[in-house]
Amino acid sequence: MSFKALSMQRLLRTSPALKEEEVIVPSGENQQPSAQDTLTPEVEELRGQDQHQLQRDYRLTDYTVSQSLEEKHAFQELVKVMRMPCVTLSDHASSGVKKDITEENLSSGLSHQPCLKGETLLTFGEFLVAEYRKKGQLEFRKMFKLQHRMRLQSSWGVIPHEDVDGKPAGTFLKTNRGVSILIRRASLEDYVLYMKRGPAISYPKDAAALLMMMDITEGDCVLEAGSGSGAMSLFLSRAVGASGKVVSVEVREDHLKRAVLNYNRWRTSWELRRGHHGRITKFVHADLSTDPVLEGMGFHAVALDLIHPQLALSTVIPHLHSGAVVPSTLQSVW
Ligand SMILES: C[S@@+](CC[C@H](N)C(=O)[O-])C[C@H]1O[C@@H](n2cnc3c(N)ncnc32)[C@H](O)[C@@H]1O
Repeated sequence: MSFKALSMQRLLRTSPALKEEEVIVPSGENQQPSAQDTLTPEVEELRGQDQHQLQRDYRLTDYTVSQSLEEKHAFQELVKVMRMPCVTLSDHASSGVKKDITEENLSSGLSHQPCLKGETLLTFGEFLVAEYRKKGQLEFRKMFKLQHRMRLQSSWGVIPHEDVDGKPAGTFLKTNRGVSILIRRASLEDYVLYMKRGPAISYPKDAAALLMMMDITEGDCVLEAGSGSGAMSLFLSRAVGASGKVVSVEVREDHLKRAVLNYNRWRTSWELRRGHHGRITKFVHADLSTDPVLEGMGFHAVALDLIHPQLALSTVIPHLHSGAVVPSTLQSVW
């Protein structure tokens, strides 16, 4: 029982039950403060201190608002940097034309958002999502890879992929039947939910909980087993960043191939958008409960998504730093 539940129960036990006629309804300004509302001198004093502190903090805020000329200049510079034309990370696949998102090409298009550094226009090879909503209800959603001479087909009409190439992400495009379809980049969550699967994946909501439990961060070294379809490998790889490392062990070769394929597809799409992925994920074909594949490695955390996770513990534990967390999913099908 959590502390919250416990204290509530105590409260219920110790408070005399209120009868209906005893319920006090506030009745306007004439109402006298109850004994609970009357403050002791100590509380009054503390409140006074709080007020004082608040006023001081407020003065600090005032100070920020009434900036000196120098500060104003620094702030304007910052705004300029944030609205700078983006550095293009990928060239146009066919023509070699650079497709920076600049304010000019945004305002000549459909969107007027400020451009953020590092963002690029949609390009061939990326995974995108097409969505159509009618009165707020999702009628159609599809993930697709932007490819030459291909068409996005739907019951609401067709959009040639060539029309999508070079547009900013989050653009509405009309089908040949005049229906507006939202075209956006696939998030990692979209990708994992739509990618082809071998075994069942760690669902994004579960993966998010696991990441919190493991408390992994940029630069960590993490072990995962098994690789399965590669969903968790992608979430872990994003969490540890370019300075971290993920080792993913899988006993079945077909599953390993699927995981590597899914991982590489996402990486390619990401690189077209943002440049070098930089993540290190090492996929290993082995049985984690018997094979000594972890020699010389140490981990900040381990994610076990196996049928019998307990069998892998003796192999894994000697490679953990003290205090490392090993969450495990146990799937029971009844
Ligand atoms: C449920 S899937 C993992 C899915 C993965 N977390 C994902 O998000 O795509 C479980 C995988 O563990 C693998 N496996 C089971 N026992 C193993 C072991 N002892 N060593 C390595 N992999 C194992 C299975 O072959 C299977 O592919």
